[in-house]
Amino acid sequence: MSSYDLMIINGLVVTASDIGHYDVAIKNEKIALLAPTGSLAGIEADKVIDAEGGYVMPGGVDAHVHLEEPPLFGKGRSADTYETGTRSAICGGTTTVITFAPQSKDRTSLLSVLEETHKKAENNCYTDYSFHLLLSNPTPSILNEFPNLRNEGISSLKIYMTYEALQLRDNQILDVLLAARKDSITTMIHAENGDILSWMTDQLEQRGLVEPKYHATSRPQLVETEATNRAITLSEIIDTPILIVHVSSPSAATHIRNAQTRGLPIYAETCPQYLFLTRDDLDKPGFEGAKCVCSPPPREGKEDHEGIWLGLQNGTFTVLSSDHCPFVYEDAELGKKSVISAEFPLGRFRYIPNGCPGIETRLPLVLSEARLELSKFVEVTSTNAAKLYGLYPRKGALLPGLSDADLVVWYPPGRLEEWRVRNEELHHGVDYTPFEGRVVRNWPRYTVLRGKVVWERDGVGVLGEKGWGRFLRRGVSSLGGGSKKEAWDVERF
Ligand SMILES: *[C@@H]1O[C@H](CO)[C@@H](O)[C@H](O)[C@H]1NC(C)=O
Ligand SMILES: [Zn+2]
Repeated sequence: MSSYDLMIINGLVVTASDIGHYDVAIKNEKIALLAPTGSLAGIEADKVIDAEGGYVMPGGVDAHVHLEEPPLFGKGRSADTYETGTRSAICGGTTTVITFAPQSKDRTSLLSVLEETHKKAENNCYTDYSFHLLLSNPTPSILNEFPNLRNEGISSLKIYMTYEALQLRDNQILDVLLAARKDSITTMIHAENGDILSWMTDQLEQRGLVEPKYHATSRPQLVETEATNRAITLSEIIDTPILIVHVSSPSAATHIRNAQTRGLPIYAETCPQYLFLTRDDLDKPGFEGAKCVCSPPPREGKEDHEGIWLGLQNGTFTVLSSDHCPFVYEDAELGKKSVISAEFPLGRFRYIPNGCPGIETRLPLVLSEARLELSKFVEVTSTNAAKLYGLYPRKGALLPGLSDADLVVWYPPGRLEEWRVRNEELHHGVDYTPFEGRVVRNWPRYTVLRGKVVWERDGVGVLGEKGWGRFLRRGVSSLGGGSKKEAWDVERF
């Protein structure tokens, strides 16, 4: 019997806290040992991967992924199943995803929503996975189910300040935050002012301005900044952590930064869309712009991107997720083109299914820019997501004996010729990528999930099997602010 199941030698190991030349030994699905390069020579393993100097990092954790959701927002259905979405993930170096278990307004039990989502995911995933509860109707009986959620290993939920079918009023948000505080649940908030943007949309429609590009006009940065500031206020009143999802606007980021400086437990997420796309991408000929319709919309330009990069570099953003939310472009029934009619040959932007695919391109695009220190890159794409959502150090780290053997091995720098992203080379279930033609300089060469090589780019490609991915029961966040001893007290105001 050999001593290890797998060894990855000659890599430059990068974690959120450390960079060094180590060989990694794996046994029974766990990281067993990190030893200085060369020191494992002569030790047996069933399989050895020579990283040839390439980076070896903890597998990516993508904490914002929409798969197989019912049409909650109007027309449109997620193009990726658990199978195709998680397959796409491993080909881009992501080994854990947290998707959403969506409660539509008519559902009166969260546990049944959870059970249904389990059925979709079970035996279908190439990555390990968990769910955030997506909450649209916080009745008292629903709020009473929060302790049951925790028993089921769910410690986070998401709410919306926009979208008619999902939008909560401020008093409802306070109800949710208070209940979440009691059970140490982290609340994710989609912060856009739904009333303003609906009103703006009506104004545009009255003037006949309905093509895809007006999606951006209808939701200017102010709409996001106001809602972000309001979400921070609501969190401060209840004294409980929130994570603002997919922040696109530097001015919203500034509010977040100021709140953090005041010591509030405000966490924030951004996505590649807000580093690489601009509103010009919505203004392509014909209906093409619909491919990049997501909310918040891509912003004005370079300066906005710079503000978001700065926030990633300086710690304002806790995580960088994909917000993978795929709709087929050439699908007149359930995809982007479902809004096209004889009367509206360029559709009406208010009904375009909102979202873009990006689960596979997240890590390579951002690493290729070389704008983040390597450890910072690992922190925002893996480690912090694991910490924030109660998966650390099982995920997001390479701690011997503690961490699952989830790794991504990159090509040695300079080995790959630069090339351009092409949708035909991706593995998702969508007929386009918003990042078509963008230059990348590196790509995951191997992806390892719990000790098993699931992606080998130069070999057969996908080696993993659906069903190897397991459900992860999550505990409380290990980032600050989540567990409160004292009860909330209205008299302290
Ligand atoms: C950090 O980034 C945020 C968000 O972009 C920005 O508002 C803030 O000024 C930056 N702080 C420093 C010290 O650079
Ligand atoms: Zn989302």
